[in-house]
Amino acid sequence: MQFDPQEIDQSAIYKLLTGAVIPRPIGWISSISEDGIPNLAPFSFFNAVGEDPPHVMFSTVRPNNSNKDTLNNVLATKQFVVNMVTEDTVERMNTTSQAFLPHEDEFEMAGLTPIPSLKIKPPRVKESPITMECELVHHYTLEDHKFGGATIMIGKIVMFHIDESVLLDNYKINLDTYKPVARLAGSNYSKLGEIFSIKRS
Ligand SMILES: Cc1cc2nc3c(=O)[nH]c(=O)nc-3n(C[C@H](O)[C@H](O)[C@H](O)COP(=O)(O)O)c2cc1C
Repeated sequence: MQFDPQEIDQSAIYKLLTGAVIPRPIGWISSISEDGIPNLAPFSFFNAVGEDPPHVMFSTVRPNNSNKDTLNNVLATKQFVVNMVTEDTVERMNTTSQAFLPHEDEFEMAGLTPIPSLKIKPPRVKESPITMECELVHHYTLEDHKFGGATIMIGKIVMFHIDESVLLDNYKINLDTYKPVARLAGSNYSKLGEIFSIKRS
């Protein structure tokens, strides 16, 4: 079957897209408002986009043309942290996705520990074994939208924090201890499944 996105409604597009593009890593983004209030929320429209220099992207949808707190904070301060989500933190990640008021601190609401970053102001999630401090280098709001579109944020990684418990020799990550979680469609998530290797051609 074919579906022209111009001819199906927004929720149908969302289901097709988020059901097809899986598994999606989750960028759990901590940011801070200009008044110094920390914020934490998950974004699965997220990925790494380059290594030289290292960059990541995430995007926030803009329901009814309104900005999410994360978007407002990152646009104002040009800084954010990506905290990677694991089996240990997935429930608390879900708690932080609730629509809290701008003055409410999701770290506190979800029982997470904010710890200082080295180069930027937003705190990191202590319970996350891999966190990356980022500086915003570019943002772009999709044009031609009907409901508010989405704003894509691209950040340059200025510091990696890798807990020794997930670090092997020579900068490799230990998948047995890392236990990352990815998002599928709706309320579904996945752990790492069977791992296999193919020699690079
Ligand atoms: C696993 C997961 C992934 C999500 N991914 C996105 C996303 O990619 N883009 C988005 O706008 N919202 C996404 N959300 C919803 C936001 O996390 C939610 O709107 C949150 O309240 C935003 O917080 P903020 O207003 O503090 O920025 C996701 C929620 C969950 C649970």
